[in-house]
Amino acid sequence: MSEFPTRRMRRLRRDGMRDLVEETKVAANDLVAPLFVDATADEPREIPSMPGVYRYPVDDAVVRAGELRDLGVPAVILFGVPEEKNEQGTRAWAEDGVVQRATRRIKESVDDLLVITDLCMCEYTDHGHCGVLDDDGRVDNDATLAYLRNIAVSQAAAGADIVAPSGMMDGMVNAVRGSLDGNGYDSVGVLSYAVKYASGFYGPFRDAADSAPSFGHRRGYQMNPANSREASVEARLDADEGADALMVKPALPYLDVLRRVREEHDLPVFAYNVSGEYAMLRAADEKGWLDAEETALESLTCIKRAGADAIITYFAADLARRL
Ligand code: PBG
Repeated sequence: MSEFPTRRMRRLRRDGMRDLVEETKVAANDLVAPLFVDATADEPREIPSMPGVYRYPVDDAVVRAGELRDLGVPAVILFGVPEEKNEQGTRAWAEDGVVQRATRRIKESVDDLLVITDLCMCEYTDHGHCGVLDDDGRVDNDATLAYLRNIAVSQAAAGADIVAPSGMMDGMVNAVRGSLDGNGYDSVGVLSYAVKYASGFYGPFRDAADSAPSFGHRRGYQMNPANSREASVEARLDADEGADALMVKPALPYLDVLRRVREEHDLPVFAYNVSGEYAMLRAADEKGWLDAEETALESLTCIKRAGADAIITYFAADLARRL
């Protein structure tokens, strides 16, 4: 028998009532803003495929970080565009590397802002892969771990609060945790890009960071979008290796995976609302087909509803302003 007309769901959707019974709320302090710091730029440069997102010289990145903090965004994640790239990605762990300089300056001059550093080699290698190559031109997993250890220590020495290994190397969390602890950085956290798919939605980011692989693809180390059980294994391995928090990336097409990781772990789960997810909404907005900020807020609400504790998003500043 139908509960109608006794049960009328619309009573819960009246003004006032709707807000009172709202299950999921997105706040500025759930958001992490990506910041691209560019050693080759002398003024902020807008990224063509990501309207409203810029590559900043170090000085401007510091100013931008302060603005984000003032808007109530609690954390930034830094990506570097180095002055030069080479086979070994040596600028990734230089004491005066662009991310190290930006981290030092932001920690010195912006109070109460967490600095997360993306820990990967693809922005620093001339071949654009996330690790060093073996003689056959494949990414050498175990050799790469030694590099990740160095990068982690250099980022921690610059003052990073959290390092975020994103290259999908097996054993990366264990390697990074070990090198941090071995060098006196046991209070620096590890946010693992534990569940990272080989996704076409990273296209605009690769423009932004000049990090598209010069040959081949990343399918040899990033996950197959068709797989969900594999995400459970990835997340478990990284949790066991000592990750402080786990990430699922991209976010919107992978909400089922996000929910799965949420249900299987008690660690904080981050979701990365990636560059392609940003670019789609901006492009449609430019055509007048939808409202970017309205759909962005809806997207982030759904990402949080699916189980994210925190969301990395290029909409952070615009939404924090609204929230
Ligand atoms: C580096 C890295 C990538 C992104 C974050 N860290 C690119 C990639 O793996 O190709 C993508 C972020 C985005 O698209 O917003 N490994």
